[in-house]
Amino acid sequence: MPATDMPATDMSVTQALRRRRSVRAFTDRSVDPALLKEIFAAAQRAPSGGNLQPWQATVLTGEAWQAVRQAVAARIAMGRAGQEPEYDIYPPALTAPWTDRRFGVGEALYASLGIPREDKRGRLAQFMDNYRGFGAPVMLFLHCSRIMGPPQWADMGMWLQSVMLMLVEQGLASCPQECWAMYGATVRRTIGLGDDQILFTGLAIGYADEDAAVNQWPVPRAPIDEAIDWKGFGT
Ligand SMILES: Cc1cc2nc3c(=O)[nH]c(=O)nc-3n(C[C@H](O)[C@H](O)[C@H](O)COP(=O)(O)O)c2cc1C
Repeated sequence: MPATDMPATDMSVTQALRRRRSVRAFTDRSVDPALLKEIFAAAQRAPSGGNLQPWQATVLTGEAWQAVRQAVAARIAMGRAGQEPEYDIYPPALTAPWTDRRFGVGEALYASLGIPREDKRGRLAQFMDNYRGFGAPVMLFLHCSRIMGPPQWADMGMWLQSVMLMLVEQGLASCPQECWAMYGATVRRTIGLGDDQILFTGLAIGYADEDAAVNQWPVPRAPIDEAIDWKGFGT
């Protein structure tokens, strides 16, 4: 694949941050692998404790991506016993305010699609769309050595956000998807990762379907007072 310079844009980091959202409907427009290569090359500049750069990723399209969708669909068809979570996606003892935020965003998402709470089947169908990557032509699986701990997982997050912001800068969109970790062993086996690796998340990549309602609702955020405590700045 030919290496190209990443096209320059005049989007600021702040604009990219504000524009990025988790996109849950993609067009079938294909993604230039040379552009992805430039983005990943730039994302190598992400910081990491001790410069470990613990992130590793497997990027799939076409038949390789289809094979994962098929393998996970087959595993899901086996029922709950087929679940094989890589890690606790949420702490088992999650409480407010985090539970409120979690359920709040779910309600806002389903409201955007007009799926009421009683429509369990409709909500499940929307959730299951995760396992087609919401129609994205490219799927990235982010993983690292199983020996890594919380600091290195934070490093993976910094790499992931770097990639997501550069995707926005280049007119692309993404959705991080930890739901794949529910079927981590199946994903790892299908993409050829050994048991020494742990799967953190998927990242669906493609061009957003700008007309889709699921991509248009305002995603809530807590006020900064709930996150930032100022000391020594005066009143
Ligand atoms: C590591 C990670 C994993 C996520 N996994 C999923 C997922 O499996 N399915 C999904 O629809 N959204 C997933 N999300 C998206 C979050 O729901 C989303 O980031 C959050 O609600 C804020 O919305 P925004 O990204 O649109 O700003 C994930 C986000 C992150 C950072």
